[in-house]
Amino acid sequence: MSDLPESFKALRVEETQDGDKLCYSSSVIERHLSELPDSDVLIKVHYSSVNYKDALSASGNKGVTRQYPHTPGIDAAGLVVRSQDSSLKVGQSVIVTGYDLGMNTSGGFAEYIAVPAQWVVPLPEGLSLFESMVLGTAGLTAALCVEKLLNNGLTPDQGDVLVTGATGGVGSIAIALLSKLGFSVTACSGKADSHPMLKRLGAGAIITREELLDQGSRPMLKERWAGAVDVVGGEMLWNIVKSLRYGGSVACCGLVGSPKLEATVFPFILRSVNLLGVDSVLLPLAHKTAIWSKLAAQWNIEQLADLAKIIALDELQAGIDSLLKGQGKGRLVLDLGR
Ligand SMILES: NC(=O)c1ccc[n+]([C@@H]2O[C@H](COP(=O)([O-])OP(=O)(O)OC[C@H]3O[C@@H](n4cnc5c(N)ncnc54)[C@H](OP(=O)(O)O)[C@@H]3O)[C@@H](O)[C@H]2O)c1
Repeated sequence: MSDLPESFKALRVEETQDGDKLCYSSSVIERHLSELPDSDVLIKVHYSSVNYKDALSASGNKGVTRQYPHTPGIDAAGLVVRSQDSSLKVGQSVIVTGYDLGMNTSGGFAEYIAVPAQWVVPLPEGLSLFESMVLGTAGLTAALCVEKLLNNGLTPDQGDVLVTGATGGVGSIAIALLSKLGFSVTACSGKADSHPMLKRLGAGAIITREELLDQGSRPMLKERWAGAVDVVGGEMLWNIVKSLRYGGSVACCGLVGSPKLEATVFPFILRSVNLLGVDSVLLPLAHKTAIWSKLAAQWNIEQLADLAKIIALDELQAGIDSLLKGQGKGRLVLDLGR
């Protein structure tokens, strides 16, 4: 403990009451190491990244974070500086994503985190700490979506695969990965100026959100997609299910449009399509570790550096605001210095 500083920098989100209304604001503060949980592993965080869930935590979504003040950040990559677990050594490079990090456990928007050993993935060879956070939870989730589609029989010869929320974290990495694996990818984006970025990631075609939304209320639509990765939910997800080709699958992982789903059984019983749920948070550590190893090797994504915008702690709030407005592009990587 002696080489460690007493205090460290962290983003802190505070809750205040204005009449009936709860308000949330953030600032960069100094915290004491003793305020962190007494967990197995203390990690000096080198990089974190901003995910949609962090934006929800920082804006008072009680489904994500119950109590404030709080330090968000569901992702962190850095070096172990203290360990009570024999499998994790001081000086080892590690990744932590999901579980309770940044939800109700002090998160990666800070120079230090303390977590249980069961949350920690050793950094696989082939990935740097920086690259692991360009991927972060978004990359892990994109890879889980792709893995689930492949496990359900999707192959490149079956036709086009759709990715929604295409310029966001999950969407952009899903496009790059599917394109690397030889799929013909259609990107759905609300950003008219995003076409060059989406083409560089490997999208063969680009459509607008309106094209997926304005489909009327028919119970089934023309068969169009062999597979899909959806981060939007709601009406967009249901229109995708109704347009899957016979036997096709959609991996559902997000709710930026809506958490609701108004459905009928017709696509399932008439076209044998699959609606596949994807969760990256409580995924067992062995599976998480295996996905990270794939992302470091056969599923490595060449465009990673292009996707990253590097920011400092005091630039986080602006990044969070842009994600809440649906204006994010690629990945915001938080550099905490070394
Ligand atoms: N299941 C899991 O384990 C898991 C893990 C990670 C993320 N997620 C969820 O996946 C979703 C995406 O996360 P992310 O980190 O990729 O977020 P993000 O970086 O903010 O990307 C979301 C993208 O969705 C599009 N979008 C935003 N608002 C929209 C709306 N109202 N209707 C349609 N499209 C909209 C935008 O892309 P365009 O402008 O290009 O359309 C936006 O960039 C979130 O709901 C998040 O909670 C789930």
